Amino acid sequence: KPSAGKGARGLRFSPVAPNTNDAVTVPEGYGQNVVIRWGEPILRGAPAFDPEKQSARAQAGQFGYNNDFLALLPLPGERGRQILVANHEYTDEVLMFRGYDPENPTREQVEIAWAAHGLSAVVVEGERRTGKLVAVPRHPLNRRVTATTEFRLTGPAAGSDLLKTSADPSGTKVLGTLNNCSGGTTPWGTTLHGEENFNQYFANASRATDKRYGLGGGATERKWERFDKRFDVAQEPNEPHRFGYVVELDPYDPSSTPRKHTALGRFKHEGATVRLTEDGRPVVYSGDDERFDYFYKFVGSKRMKKGSSRAVREHNLSLLDEGTLYVARLTGDSPSIEIDGTGKLPADGEFDGSGEWIPLATATADGAVSHVEGMTAEEVFVFTRLAGDKVGATKMDRPEDIEPNPHTGKVYVALTNNSNRGKAGYAGADEANPRNLNKHGQVLELTERWNRADSRRFAWSLFLVAGDPNDPATYFAGFPKDQVSPISCPDNVAFDPHGNLWISTDGNQLGSHDGLFGVATRGARRGELKQFATMPNGAETCGPVIQDRRVLVAVQHPGEIDGASVEKPASAWPDGPGKIVRPSVVAVWRKDGGDIGV
Ligand code: FEO
Ligand code: CA
Ligand code: CA
Ligand code: CA
Repeated sequence: KPSAGKGARGLRFSPVAPNTNDAVTVPEGYGQNVVIRWGEPILRGAPAFDPEKQSARAQAGQFGYNNDFLALLPLPGERGRQILVANHEYTDEVLMFRGYDPENPTREQVEIAWAAHGLSAVVVEGERRTGKLVAVPRHPLNRRVTATTEFRLTGPAAGSDLLKTSADPSGTKVLGTLNNCSGGTTPWGTTLHGEENFNQYFANASRATDKRYGLGGGATERKWERFDKRFDVAQEPNEPHRFGYVVELDPYDPSSTPRKHTALGRFKHEGATVRLTEDGRPVVYSGDDERFDYFYKFVGSKRMKKGSSRAVREHNLSLLDEGTLYVARLTGDSPSIEIDGTGKLPADGEFDGSGEWIPLATATADGAVSHVEGMTAEEVFVFTRLAGDKVGATKMDRPEDIEPNPHTGKVYVALTNNSNRGKAGYAGADEANPRNLNKHGQVLELTERWNRADSRRFAWSLFLVAGDPNDPATYFAGFPKDQVSPISCPDNVAFDPHGNLWISTDGNQLGSHDGLFGVATRGARRGELKQFATMPNGAETCGPVIQDRRVLVAVQHPGEIDGASVEKPASAWPDGPGKIVRPSVVAVWRKDGGDIGV
């Protein structure tokens, strides 16, 4: 077992043992508090949360449901305060409404769900002596963005015929954002949010392009199409083309119209993270979370400007409109590798190889050019998955969060799992996705050639092959496996100020609950993975933010277990038995006031 007291700077905590407690469990010597719960009022005039009397109007001024990605931005001039931005990925109506009838949702329930989706920005304040963090309701920067907030489509596909609807003949104005999963914070002080499984909101789809994105025929589970025809593809065929983007929010300007960036392509964006080139252009990495889908990068052509004037901010908000979108192709270097999960390492001792970024389309101020035969540029940006198919991108095991290490530039890709890998009719294992029926996932480390963010070529190796360390098919960057925590289904990744990688999990397949882990990426401790937290019943670990003195984690969908409902809760978190289960954000700190893990 990993030991306390030793280890990399930032990771010297006693690991939490795997468990199935209905609680957030953190290392010895660490404290925690719930920062904000679903339904807490954040806007002026919003009422206190009352699950028995919830209304759409109330919800639109309250913190949304199922917090996922989190960002913390500085708030100069307000001592001890920061702006927390949270994604609200989706709603789970049986856990929100007493007596919910899935066959007959009411208009009020549907409108509450619209208001519970989207994003929240809420100012938070740290307690001076501890790491405790509390929300500041009614702060003028607090904001809710919901499934009905106006967005502007920007970039090369904005205004395209593929994006026009009867409500928006301009093809540039969309109502709302849906299924915001992970995201990123930009160097110019905005936040990015991936629209992931948008397919589930649209009914009656039948086109081949719809199927490639997982849209189905017939009714949806939530039945929103009964209350707004834009969710019925048979009536409004282009509406689903307006979801599946990276959206950008300026949290410092609560009156600004958030944007959807078509230049970053349309797919099930898990998130989006930015690294700047040496000359100050943004490079954005993003994964498409689906079994056998791809990961991408966008290389911008405009340089970021420094400063906070309106003109500078406006310029920086256009950075993601011009540039080239690429998809990744990976090649292994060990042709004789045994890749059937028997635990044999490749002949050269590493799962590794080379890769290239294949250009799909380029957007400029004067228009866009496709690099994919048989597809226009607009088609590439709207049907990006089909472009990836055509150029032979590498089919990965669910590319989730991707993030460059700010200390080294190396990029880490969480590949959650792939239960279909190697099944009849599906692609079999390869060196980057080395296990068939892959239950536990892996984390890939990518090094851009010359360590330049805009390189067209890269080297890669698997940093972790997840699972029980006693399983010979696992790998922890070569670190002794009797000294690491077990991990399964890596999903979100983040870095602490020391450059350690933090990984949160979704769907632990080892019989214990999901959690948060830290691991050094450099030095003698590289690969020493340690568990920092475990989650309550049914919850997924999301949105980790790791600062010097505080870890912030989004406890998503607590109590979401088959058969559970408001009447039959599967968790008593966070407020105890008899209270409704509420997705919430938790802050964790060291009780002695020291830095995390130092
Ligand atoms: Fe919403 Fe791919 O996790
Ligand atoms: Ca190899
Ligand atoms: Ca996720
Ligand atoms: Ca991340």
